[in-house]
Amino acid sequence: MSKNKLTAFNLPKSIEWKNGELYLLDQTLLPHSMVMEKQETVEQVWHSIQLLKVRGAPAIGVAAAYGLCVAVRDAQEQPLDRYKELVKQKAAYLDSARPTAINLNWAMTRMIDHMEKMNVSNAVELYSALVKEAELIHAQDRALCLGMGETGAPLIQEGMGIMTHCNAGGLATSELGTATAPMYVAQAEGKKFKVFANETRPLLQGARLTSWELQQSGIDVTLLTDNMAAHMMATGHIDMVIVGTDRVVANGDVANKIGTLGVAIIAKHYDIPFYVACPSSTIDLKTAHGKDIPIEERSADEITIIRGQRVAPENIQTRSPAFDVTPNELVAGLITETEIIRAPFEQGIKDFFKGKNNE
Ligand code: MRU
Repeated sequence: MSKNKLTAFNLPKSIEWKNGELYLLDQTLLPHSMVMEKQETVEQVWHSIQLLKVRGAPAIGVAAAYGLCVAVRDAQEQPLDRYKELVKQKAAYLDSARPTAINLNWAMTRMIDHMEKMNVSNAVELYSALVKEAELIHAQDRALCLGMGETGAPLIQEGMGIMTHCNAGGLATSELGTATAPMYVAQAEGKKFKVFANETRPLLQGARLTSWELQQSGIDVTLLTDNMAAHMMATGHIDMVIVGTDRVVANGDVANKIGTLGVAIIAKHYDIPFYVACPSSTIDLKTAHGKDIPIEERSADEITIIRGQRVAPENIQTRSPAFDVTPNELVAGLITETEIIRAPFEQGIKDFFKGKNNE
């Protein structure tokens, strides 16, 4: 797929590093306004991640890599040993912003590993090496998206209806998205298909972000509420599901936005293939089983208050798990940057990483 065909899409830029400064698109304001917010401090970056101003697994990894540079930018006069300690401390802090998406931990680990390998004589040189590594992570994420697009596009056939959940698009990554990448590539190839975007309660990433992003790019998109998924599958509108993921573990279990598990179970019932677009940066080989993935629990206000309006009684008990885990037996395939991994997943994932060095 030539890059030119894909630049025709009006893809949003969620992260920008310009003249040594980090800018993040405040996704909480979408689709009403597009505000690039300059990140002045590491605390601001942490809050931007925690409040979902920047969100989506790959995007928070990239944002945190640059955020680490912001964290240590003004301490370059320190002796190298002390500077290295500071880098480690700030990386741990950024890593604590959200627990489920492995890309955050992956990016921080990669920055620290890079630091330990670098042969530098002072903090100024180390800072410049860290910026280069963050830029490389950003550029590689763009390439991973394109790879998933090319791997997954052949699954999309003329006339298909494709369901997606949450936002695994350009906003959640550095360019084409994960679940949306095959859609962008198939659209650029001239295929006609329909996307059905689930609204994704409680924070409406499907309604505010995915439907907006795909509409901007000229993709035929229809917004659904989450409770319409079964009906749309039962009535023959959906031929395939493609979602993104926050973490795939060694046995192929998949963590993604709350509600994904329900979509996968319904898809299985109707014999509709359920695919997960997953770059290698989202695979966690250190965790054996989905039950060991930490699930972020968010504030009750996100359930009881909608756009400033209280919709539930005061003091009501709530639960707010932000993610769920889909067992590997419900997954038709993991669309990676180079291949589709199919069952048995444990072996498939091992084979995929043979020759790659991010184990
Ligand atoms: O809470 P969010 O909005 O960060 O959740 C994002 C998702 O669940 C996405 O589907 C996932 O990160 C994949 S993004 C390419």
